[in-house]
Amino acid sequence: MTAMHERFDDFEIRPFTRDDVASITRHANDERVARQMRDRFPHPYAADDARAFFDLVARGESDAFAIAGPDGAFGTIGFQRRADVERFTAEVGFWLGATHWGRGIATRAVVAFVDWLFTTTDLERLEAVVFETNPASARVLEKAGFERESRRRRSIHKGGRMLDSTVFVRFR
Ligand SMILES: CC(C)(COP(=O)(O)OP(=O)(O)OC[C@H]1O[C@@H](n2cnc3c(N)ncnc32)[C@H](O)[C@@H]1OP(=O)(O)O)[C@@H](O)C(=O)NCCC(=O)NCCS
Repeated sequence: MTAMHERFDDFEIRPFTRDDVASITRHANDERVARQMRDRFPHPYAADDARAFFDLVARGESDAFAIAGPDGAFGTIGFQRRADVERFTAEVGFWLGATHWGRGIATRAVVAFVDWLFTTTDLERLEAVVFETNPASARVLEKAGFERESRRRRSIHKGGRMLDSTVFVRFR
């Protein structure tokens, strides 16, 4: 698969480099980020976690790109294709360091990423799973043209609590 490279006025989406370990670790090591992510996103988050993630990406076991500025990567956007009869569906995921929230970066990143996925892959359906505690992500997805498809009640165990989630979808 080709890599994504796209520049905006104030950030870019590009492949990770080894130089991103320190900045990704700094931004990822934040409970405000971790609590909205699947448990495979570690908390606390150490440099070895970033290295292990970059290794997965380098081996092609995870498809993810850096959201980066002049001081290095401060977030991630990626997708995971489902298997078997669901192989034309992928789950999209993203996060930003809290210092970069509230500037429309995630919305622009998701819009560009979806365009890129529908141009460079044969995926038909993109999904995102948002915990009920995450109105900001729900808003990002709506602004990026996703629709609210279904509510999965008590489907998530996070932070010691059972939570509902909402599945957002966008079709080719
Ligand atoms: C979700 C996240 C990516 C948003 O990034 P961002 O760059 O701040 O998003 P944007 O600036 O593009 O848009 C945020 C929108 O959410 C809204 N918003 C923020 N906090 C909100 C809240 N508590 N309730 C309702 N809306 C909220 C903002 O007002 C904005 O909408 P608007 O443009 O209509 O005003 C970021 O907060 C993050 O990384 N969170 C932790 C990880 C995460 O949640 N990942 C997604 C998992 S599904």
